[in-house]
Amino acid sequence: MNHLEAVRKYKKMYKQLLATADELAGRIESNDVLCCDITLAQPGALLNAVAKHVKEKGLTNVKQHILLDVYPYEMYQDAELLGKYTGVSWFSSGGARKAVSNGLADVMPCYYRDIPSLFTQYVDVDYFVAAVSPMDKHGYFSMSTVGSASQALLHKAKHIIVEVNKNLPRALNSPMVHISQIDGLYENHVPLVCLPKAEIDETSKTIGGLIAERIPDGATLQLGIGAVPDAVGLALKHKHDLGIHTEMFTDSMVELIECGAVNNSKKPIHTGKTVATFAFGSQRIYDLIDDNPAFELLPVDYVNDPAVIAQHPNFVSINAALEVDFYGQVCAESIGTKHVSGSGGQVDYVRGATQSPGGMSFIAFPSTAKGGTVSKIMPTLTPGAIVTTSKNDVDYIVTEFGIAKLRGKPLSERAKALISIAHPNFRDELTFAAKKQGILI
Ligand code: COA
Repeated sequence: MNHLEAVRKYKKMYKQLLATADELAGRIESNDVLCCDITLAQPGALLNAVAKHVKEKGLTNVKQHILLDVYPYEMYQDAELLGKYTGVSWFSSGGARKAVSNGLADVMPCYYRDIPSLFTQYVDVDYFVAAVSPMDKHGYFSMSTVGSASQALLHKAKHIIVEVNKNLPRALNSPMVHISQIDGLYENHVPLVCLPKAEIDETSKTIGGLIAERIPDGATLQLGIGAVPDAVGLALKHKHDLGIHTEMFTDSMVELIECGAVNNSKKPIHTGKTVATFAFGSQRIYDLIDDNPAFELLPVDYVNDPAVIAQHPNFVSINAALEVDFYGQVCAESIGTKHVSGSGGQVDYVRGATQSPGGMSFIAFPSTAKGGTVSKIMPTLTPGAIVTTSKNDVDYIVTEFGIAKLRGKPLSERAKALISIAHPNFRDELTFAAKKQGILI
C-alpha cells in the first residue's frame, strides 16, 4: 500500500468509526469499567452522555476512574447516579473534592507515579475514553497535553473511544493512538479549559523570593500546584540555563522559557527539552506545546520516578502543603478528615530532589490560613489529616518568615526551626506545646 492509499484508507476508517457521544455512550453496559486520564485528556461530553444513558437504561455498577477532573460531571453531582455510575477519583480537584465530601464518589489512595501500574495490575479496563487532537496523515492521534497514564491505558483497555477536538494542540512527543486501535470516535471542538491566572499575593511573592535566592543557575526545576510554586517560578526570571523536568507544566514555566531563563541546556538527559507528564493552565501553554519538538509529555511512571529525577544535578522541587507538624510530617491532601487533594507526585519529587547531587526539596506555604486565624505549622497534625510527605523524606520547609532545614536534623532542632518560621502570633503557643510534648531539650 503506497502512502496515498494509506491516507485514503485512514480517512475511510475515520468515517466508519465516526458517531455521536450519545451513540457511543449507548454501548456501555452494567458493570462496565471506564477509565480516563487527567485534565484535558477527559472527553467531557462522553462522560455526561454515559450518565444520561445509565439513567435512561437503568444500568447499575458502572465505574468511572478519573484524575484531576476539569469538567462539571453529572456523576459527581447527581445523587440518583450513586451505585449506578460512580466516579473513583485518583487525584481530586473541585468537582471530585465536593463529591467525595458529600459521599457521592470514591477515592483511590495512590502515588501518581504508580497509576499506570495500578491500572495495569488491578483494574479491569473495559473502556479507555480520551480526548485527542485530530488524526494526522499517518492515522495517529496525539494524546496532546498528557503523557500521564495514557500509554498504560491504551495497552490495557478492551475498547478505546476518543473525542476529537481540533483545539487540542498536537504534541510531537506524547503518547499516540492509531486509528486501527480505536473502536469509536466523535467530534467535539469545545474551547480548551484554561485555569484562571493565579493570584500571587505579597506573602507568596516573599516566599518565592526566599526560595529563588537559593536556586543556582543551571538547576532543573519541578514546580507543584498552587500560588506559591507559581510565585517561585516568577521570581526566577533573572536566572540562567535552568531546566524543567516536572509533573505539571504551568504558566510560570512558559514565562521562564519565553524570557530565556529556561533553556534546558544543562540537563544531562533530555538535553534541550522541557519534560512534563501533563500541561494545564492558559492558552499560552497549549500554543507552546503545539508541534513543538522541544517539548516532551511522557508517561508519569518515568517522569516522576525518583531515580530519573535524581539524575539531574541541582534538582530543585517546590511544592505546597496544608499543614506541617513538629516532626516535619507534611499534609497536602486533607483538612482533618475533609478531602482536598491527592498525593500526586509530591513525595517522588522530594525523594528525587534530595537524592540529586546538590538537589533541594522545598515545601512552601503561607504561615497561616483562614485569614491569619490558623497556623499551618502545628504541634501535631489535625486528627484525620493525611500524611503526604513523611518526616523521613522531608527536606526544607518555607514560609514568608524564612526557611527551615529539617533533613538530617533531630526532632528538637526541627521544632525550633519550624517555630522560628511560624507566624509571630503563634510562636509562643507553639513553644509552649513543644515544651509540653517534651520536644525542646
Ligand atoms: N487549615 C484550614 N484550612 C486550610 C489550611 C489549614 N491549615 N491550609 C489551607 N487551608 C484552606 C485554604 O484557606 C483554602 O481554602 P479556600 O479554598 O476556601 O480558599 C484551601 O484550604 C486550599 O488551600 P491553598 O493553600 O489555597 O491551596 P493551594 O491551591 O495552594 O494548593 C495543595 C495546596 C496542598 C492543596 C496542593 O498543592 C496540592 O494539591 N498538593 C498535593 C499534591 C502535590 O503536592 N503535588 C505536587 C506535584 S504537582
